[in-house]
Amino acid sequence: MADILKLFTSIGLSEQKAKETQKNEALTSALTEAVIQVLHLLGPKTEADLEKKPKAPKAKAAENDVKTEKEEVTVNAVFSECELFLQANNGICFLRYDDTNPEKEEEKYFTAIKDMVEWLGYTPYDITHASDNFQKLYDLAVDLIRRGHAYVCHQKVEELKGHNVPPSPWRDRPTEESLVLFERMKKGIFAEGEATLRMKMVMEDGKMDPVAYRIKYTPHHRTGDEWCIYPTYDYTHCLCDSIENITHSLCTKEFQARRSSYYWLCNALDVYCPVQWEYGRLNLTYTVVSKRKIIKLVETGVVRDWDDPRLFTLTALRRRGFPPEAINNFCARVGVTVSQTTTEPHLLESCVRDVLNDTAPRAMAVLEPLKVTITNLPKDTKMDVRVPNFPANEDKGTHTIPFTRTIFIEQSDFREVMEKGYKRLTPEQPVGLRHAGYVISVQKVIKDSQGKVVELEVTCCSSETAEKPKAFIHWVSQPLVCEVRLYERL
Ligand SMILES: *[C@@H]1O[C@H](CO)[C@@H](O)[C@H](O)[C@H]1NC(C)=O
Ligand SMILES: *[C@@H]1O[C@H](CO)[C@@H](O)[C@H](O)[C@H]1NC(C)=O
Ligand SMILES: *[C@@H]1O[C@H](CO)[C@@H](O)[C@H](O)[C@H]1NC(C)=O
Repeated sequence: MADILKLFTSIGLSEQKAKETQKNEALTSALTEAVIQVLHLLGPKTEADLEKKPKAPKAKAAENDVKTEKEEVTVNAVFSECELFLQANNGICFLRYDDTNPEKEEEKYFTAIKDMVEWLGYTPYDITHASDNFQKLYDLAVDLIRRGHAYVCHQKVEELKGHNVPPSPWRDRPTEESLVLFERMKKGIFAEGEATLRMKMVMEDGKMDPVAYRIKYTPHHRTGDEWCIYPTYDYTHCLCDSIENITHSLCTKEFQARRSSYYWLCNALDVYCPVQWEYGRLNLTYTVVSKRKIIKLVETGVVRDWDDPRLFTLTALRRRGFPPEAINNFCARVGVTVSQTTTEPHLLESCVRDVLNDTAPRAMAVLEPLKVTITNLPKDTKMDVRVPNFPANEDKGTHTIPFTRTIFIEQSDFREVMEKGYKRLTPEQPVGLRHAGYVISVQKVIKDSQGKVVELEVTCCSSETAEKPKAFIHWVSQPLVCEVRLYERL
């Protein structure tokens, strides 16, 4: 036991935190294994590593929040190891909706999130809602007041904005008074904004006493008008994690600033305290991924909606035809790290190509058609050409396409003036037709009054007798007309 505590403090957990962690069996075994492996990789920490760095004077953060650069590396390594270990131990994952703001919650967002999680192929162990716990959270808030860690405050929202906000004049009011007022808040005796419940703690950024409960006379889509006080993110998140016995609460780095309030609250109420791990958010070049920025693009009409295929939201990627496997592969390749990484979209696109290469049967399509008439074929010629569904693997079936006297090729596959290195069709240079078994040679170039090439007359001969052409091009005959959408970078 003592050895495990020592092991945990060696990765930067405070003694108190290490003791708490130890209470959780699954976490203890995961961490122990991970730390042993990491120590094995990095060697044991030296005295210098373990020396406590002085705390930043302003941010009175929780103890284990003060990390040296080296610790950051270690903790990151522990994280990956931990993740692998939990996977190996059939770790489970909850999907919980933090539906604490009745004004913002709508069923359609929940459905959309659930849809996307399922589309990516994940089945949450359970789907829960913060609102399932409204009664428990309320009871805990009463307990928090009793313990002297929270008070009812009447400062207005505007007064709390900005820096150098003076401490609340109600901070030291008697516990009994806060208990009575908090109950009045719940009973709907105050108007919106007249009272809040605040926690007696200092956040990382120096902000004092974050709000735990506020009054809102907006019905909640799950609990109706049962409540007129609603808990905030800072109050709700860690307590719901604790109630659900979550081992690790994973979130992006922005939430690092909330970590001290996470630990503070669990400790202040003396309830089981999960571990919060932050990772860097995935950033892509040529686009924006922040919710706030995307909303702005939608509102100003730059993009049509959240699923505009030029965006990289999951709905947009799905609409664009990106397979979910490709997105999962991409995430696996990018990895989970604490550092802020920016990734090029072509890495994602290459993952998409890898998947489609094996799963999407090929079809020939011409985007900018040029009409070609093959004059040495009889007028009613119609042949069936057999084309493999996957050129790299003939075992995966074939389909037939028509081949007639009139075909269409890509405008860019013909040049009237030969250029060095150009391998496709010119008046002097024949070209092969992919899959058709023919090589065509230009006889006549037909132009419109503006001098634009509108049609070619060619003759064909079998590729068995013709000299091997420098290139084979794609073509269509009796084509289906379709709409093709090509996307520029945003
Ligand atoms: C969490 O763990 C406690 C104690 O082991 C148990 O009483 C409780 O039912 C668990 N809650 C959930 C949601 O699993
Ligand atoms: C994401 O990348 C953009 C530039 O591509 C940069 O301006 C922004 O700061 C990055 N954000 C993060 C969180 O790394
Ligand atoms: C497509 O897959 C085949 C094997 O099935 C492979 O030989 C080929 O290189 C792949 N093409 C691309 C563009 O990845």
